[in-house]
Amino acid sequence: MNDATRLAALSDISVDGSLLVTVREADGSEEEVIVVRTDDCVAGWKNFCQHETDQRLDRGFGAAIRGGEIVCPKHGSMFDGCSGYCDSGKAAESTLVEVEVAVEEGVIYLTDDQCSFLHKGGIDEDDGTPGSSSHLTF
Ligand code: FES
Repeated sequence: MNDATRLAALSDISVDGSLLVTVREADGSEEEVIVVRTDDCVAGWKNFCQHETDQRLDRGFGAAIRGGEIVCPKHGSMFDGCSGYCDSGKAAESTLVEVEVAVEEGVIYLTDDQCSFLHKGGIDEDDGTPGSSSHLTF
């Protein structure tokens, strides 16, 4: 919504690793975002599959990423970590929803003007409330 927000040092995320954060959307709702690092890029994606949008890619212990591709834990569709595109499986020909991030001088920033950073971790990790899947907006 305004200036870039520092999310993490690049070195905090290993190659084929991810960081889960929670942001506030322009409509006031909260959304989870995975920041993914591959050999080729750092990218941000809303934390849900395109096949079943109630399926989180990171269920609270890191997204599964293999060779630069994000693996959906439910049916195994693989999304390119840099483009978000899936070319096979149940989610074929879909693309994850991007959240803009940038890397500058070894620091990862949230630069998307459609949302603002709330906290690291999933939606339910900040207030101690038990898990809920009510974070999706339609
Ligand atoms: S829910 Fe992700 S591939 Fe089916």
